[in-house]
Amino acid sequence: MLAQIRSIGAYVPENAVTNDQLAETVDTSDEWIRSHTGIGKRHIATDDQAASDLAVRAVNIAMERAGMSPEELDLIILATASGDYPGFPSTACIVQEAIGAVNAGALDISAGCTGFVYGLEMARGMIVSGCSKNILVAGVEVLTHITNWKDRDTCVLFGDGAGAAVVTSGEDGGSGILDSILRAEGSGAPYLIRKAGGSRQPYTGKDDAYQDLFIQMDGQKVYKFAVRVNTDLVGMFFQRHNLTIDDIAYIVPHQANVRIIQAAAKRLGIPMEKFYLNIEEYANTSAASIPLALNEMSEKGILKRGDLILTLGFGAGLTYGGNLIRW
Ligand code: ACO
Repeated sequence: MLAQIRSIGAYVPENAVTNDQLAETVDTSDEWIRSHTGIGKRHIATDDQAASDLAVRAVNIAMERAGMSPEELDLIILATASGDYPGFPSTACIVQEAIGAVNAGALDISAGCTGFVYGLEMARGMIVSGCSKNILVAGVEVLTHITNWKDRDTCVLFGDGAGAAVVTSGEDGGSGILDSILRAEGSGAPYLIRKAGGSRQPYTGKDDAYQDLFIQMDGQKVYKFAVRVNTDLVGMFFQRHNLTIDDIAYIVPHQANVRIIQAAAKRLGIPMEKFYLNIEEYANTSAASIPLALNEMSEKGILKRGDLILTLGFGAGLTYGGNLIRW
């Protein structure tokens, strides 16, 4: 038995802020952001929109496309680094109630930008083992609500969005998640971090303590890590399955920075056309970026049944991983 992505849906907030608009309030420029990242704009949630609000919009689309009612779901796995609440309750539980998935368990997973890749593999394990039948895997972020808008090193990078996939059982030899690689490198934990608000550094409300509630990043450390692990992941998948790039229709990487993908592509000797990129429109939406890309590719008819695709995720933790999928 295979675990198959039966449908996919996505949602981004309507408000798109261009680099030029951002440069009116932050010391930056369209030229710097484009040349250093490939980002042209980002979609930003309204003040009253939380992660679950975006997730529900994406989930409803995916459920409708799957032709499935919420009661049929056994499990909701929601990947996020910017959930409705810090820690608990999980955003997955808020979504479960909102859509009426009365027979489902619900949990969040914290794997940074690799969250959706991790979630797909967890769903595959649950389905192939026979423990679950119908699983919703979502990746959702409202990173702009946990961004320090005075820190130009980070605030130009992120955007908000949600993507969701319905994963069910499929027949051997057909469409499905064929393999995944999940890895972590916890030594890099300090490089991408929200320091306050947990048990390590409870939020005190004193002086500048609020600054540690925002995303902090050592950009160059993350950059080097990302280029290395993207290169390694592709090599590992190719070796495990005896593949060449000619066998792969598209590589769908986490959309963090176009330069990371260019550097990995160069090391691998793979043409850039093999990588699907939409970072110019959405910026880095962390756990949402891969399902947003898959949804866009599906809607545009870029993905054909039977195509082999490779997802590549990397992010806070540090985590990385990928899924080999027959679409
Ligand atoms: N606008 C203008 N100038 C800027 C900006 C900005 N927004 N940000 C930094 N600069 C300046 C710096 O101050 C520095 O100036 P200086 O030379 O006078 O000191 C100069 O630009 C170069 O800064 P660097 O940090 O060296 O720039 P770099 O080329 O490394 O690019 C970047 C920075 C884009 C952040 C890059 O390091 C990167 O992409 N890192 C990886 C980030 C990433 O992938 N994050 C994903 C994970 S996010 C997640 O998982 C939630």
